[in-house]
Amino acid sequence: MAIIASNFKTNHTRKTTKEFIQTVNSYLEENKIENEVIVFPTSSSLDNFNTVCNLTIGAQNAYAVNSGSFTGEIGTQQLDEFNIKTILIGHSERRHILGETQEEIALKYEFYKDLGYKIVYCIGEPLEVKQEGLQATLEYIYEQFVGIDTNYENLILAYEPVWAIGTGVTATNDDIKNVHNAIKEKINKPLLYGGSVKVENVAEICAIPNVDGALIGTASWIKEDFIQIIENTKDL
Ligand code: PGA
Repeated sequence: MAIIASNFKTNHTRKTTKEFIQTVNSYLEENKIENEVIVFPTSSSLDNFNTVCNLTIGAQNAYAVNSGSFTGEIGTQQLDEFNIKTILIGHSERRHILGETQEEIALKYEFYKDLGYKIVYCIGEPLEVKQEGLQATLEYIYEQFVGIDTNYENLILAYEPVWAIGTGVTATNDDIKNVHNAIKEKINKPLLYGGSVKVENVAEICAIPNVDGALIGTASWIKEDFIQIIENTKDL
């Protein structure tokens, strides 16, 4: 059963998020789709969505706090209002654009783990590391597990090579296979692939052994496309 997740990043309004979630929810319900589906809207679009049990709404980010003085951040007080218990941690845009360090990420992970959140934890190497080969890539990825309890029961991993995110360049099936096999040998958790997954390639990618689903940005933002992505993977 593939896990299919949509990361809205900085896209969609409150209004279009609601339409998106309602449409996806009806599709899942009417067609009795069993995939686990997760949608990560922007924090300003979080709300009480009445969804079927296999459609979960998660937060793209939150601070490791209940409430307090952290300008521009949200904490669990804001997530609790909508019963959000799922969070994305370690996304490459937060690491590389917004400057989150491994130490900060590990603290955030520990905080949300203690609260029992489902954590989708992202790892992945930049292009210059990939060009050094598989061994360098794996060493880089293992550094991203420093301070992370990989035995946590509510953990989903997402391997997202930085050079494949938002670029239209998907990793090859061999790239995905090599990294997923190596990670799975060490950590027995669901492992998604992310990075330019599209309607046309999602089924092929999710059928690779040790790929348990996909975390999708760009190609998931049009609701009809996201539904097609789920449709293409529903029988895997
Ligand atoms: P992309 O983003 O599908 O646009 O490459 C994936 C992600 O960042 O999760």
